[in-house]
Amino acid sequence: MSGPDAGPALEVRDLTVRYRDVVALDGVSISVEPGQACGLVGMNGSGKSTLLQACAGLLRPRRGTVRVLGRTPDEARRDGLVGYVPQVDQVDKDFPVVVADVVLMGRYHRMGGRRRARPEDRAAVDAALDRVGLADLAGRQIGRLSGGQRQRVLLARALAQDARLLLLDEPFTGLDVVSTEAVTAVLHGLVAAGATIVVSTHDLRTLPDLCRTSVLLHRTVLAAGPTADVVTPENLALAFGLDRRGSVR
Ligand SMILES: Nc1ncnc2c1ncn2[C@@H]1O[C@H](COP(=O)(O)OP(=O)(O)OP(=O)(O)O)[C@@H](O)[C@H]1O
Ligand SMILES: [Mg+2]
Repeated sequence: MSGPDAGPALEVRDLTVRYRDVVALDGVSISVEPGQACGLVGMNGSGKSTLLQACAGLLRPRRGTVRVLGRTPDEARRDGLVGYVPQVDQVDKDFPVVVADVVLMGRYHRMGGRRRARPEDRAAVDAALDRVGLADLAGRQIGRLSGGQRQRVLLARALAQDARLLLLDEPFTGLDVVSTEAVTAVLHGLVAAGATIVVSTHDLRTLPDLCRTSVLLHRTVLAAGPTADVVTPENLALAFGLDRRGSVR
């Protein structure tokens, strides 16, 4: 294959992102092949959300490049190729829309300028809500959900979009055991169907099962490669500022 689809699904080169005087990412380079699930691990403040947002085209890097399936993040977003599931505390709970409308946003790029939902858009919304186990709550206002339910609505929005690269920021946070298993199964299904996912998580038990490769982040990339080689006690000690006995250095 040649053309923009021939290379990696996600390629980040020498990315530096600053928030005023905070350097959140410094010279980060990662590459994720199509059809792969890649985990993103690191302590609070290590830059995981910043990296995912830069890949989704939601913030501008100071230096470096991001390519999604050979396109800029803006192009990829316009074409609906990249889906982003934010960390749940970034959601405006007072936004006056119901669950089905939030999920329908995943279809906007297909709906044209007037954003009129067609039957296939409604069907995609229903199917996505069903996959995350929220079909019963389609008419509920988004602010009147539990945190774990809201998290699953955002996943449903990305599913309805049918994106080829899905960026998920801590999708398991606040989920109960049953929902964690359901979301894990959904993500496995996406990868089996050929999608690429990048998922940040603090859940190191779920990681090896879900992600064949991982990146350990601490403003820079500390380690990257097969998950078993990346998530080692030595590397985790380095990434979390702990010594091998588990106390903070
Ligand atoms: N809007 C912002 N303005 C200023 N600094 C920010 C902003 N967002 C994040 N930061 C800083 O950038 C760094 C990276 O933050 P980021 O949210 O990417 O980390 P994270 O790895 O996602 O952390 P967590 O595990 O807590 O979600 C941190 O030092 C954080 O304080
Ligand atoms: Mg974060």
